[in-house]
Amino acid sequence: MRDTGEAAAGLAPKLVVEGVSKRYTSSRATVQALDNVSLNVTEGEFVCLIGPSGCGKSTLLDIMAGLTLPDSGRVLADGKLVQGPGRQRLVMFQESALFPWLDAFGNVMFGLKLRPDLTNRERRDIANRFLQLVGLESFKRAHVHELSGGMKQRVALARALAPDPQVLLMDEPFAALDALTRDQLYDDVQRIWRDSRKTIVFVTHNVREAVCLGDRIVLMSPSPGRIAQVFAIPLPRPRDINSPALASHTSGIAAALKGTLRGAVSE
Ligand SMILES: Nc1ncnc2c1ncn2[C@@H]1O[C@H](COP(=O)(O)OP(=O)(O)O)[C@@H](O)[C@H]1O
Ligand SMILES: [Mg+2]
Repeated sequence: MRDTGEAAAGLAPKLVVEGVSKRYTSSRATVQALDNVSLNVTEGEFVCLIGPSGCGKSTLLDIMAGLTLPDSGRVLADGKLVQGPGRQRLVMFQESALFPWLDAFGNVMFGLKLRPDLTNRERRDIANRFLQLVGLESFKRAHVHELSGGMKQRVALARALAPDPQVLLMDEPFAALDALTRDQLYDDVQRIWRDSRKTIVFVTHNVREAVCLGDRIVLMSPSPGRIAQVFAIPLPRPRDINSPALASHTSGIAAALKGTLRGAVSE
């Protein structure tokens, strides 16, 4: 189950993270959020980053997105140095960060501002298609405050997917949702990933969620943030979050996650 952190042989790496370190300095303290982190993500791969709070998952995701720059090391996307955010790598956050003054359709249209190459008519068609894809076509005129937490995250997903990024970076997107809503979203995300063949990096602290979704799970440990272990998940898809096969994979990884809290995982 354990592998080396290298992307599958023979397939092009979509994202290459090379020796990335990041330190935050405030008046009170200095935190080594990431220390010499390297990781390859293959085109079309679904990689989950897990680890305890504060181990640098969000920092690593933001660096992959180009929202944060590393102190040392670098990220390559399709062989090109990432120096800032771009429409090929979009981020979806835990809090949907939707605009409350826009309806669902307006929020998805806003994401499509990243596509000035399209006509307004084309953007409207795409927005309608992605709202349909996430099952919200009949809520397109609903305002954000009228939507449940799960619906908001569906709109956020449609907004992130509509500009057709090659890489989708998701930072604990379902952490604030109830279990039933989450289970439905796991099915939807697997379906959308299968159909779109996007490259996805998905941050979570929920091992079961990671096993349900990931081709590989990258376990990080804190203080300083490092990759502790990488697990390949060879289960067939679509995966049912409640299946016994999934549970059996979960237990070993959950034990390794606990180990990172004790600093007991070997490097
Ligand atoms: N903007 C920031 N300024 C100062 N410290 C930060 C900042 N962002 C993150 N950190 C610190 O860096 C470490 C890693 O944070 P983060 O990447 O958010 O971890 P995770 O997403 O795994 O919880 C934590 O100790 C956090 O407090
Ligand atoms: Mg985080």
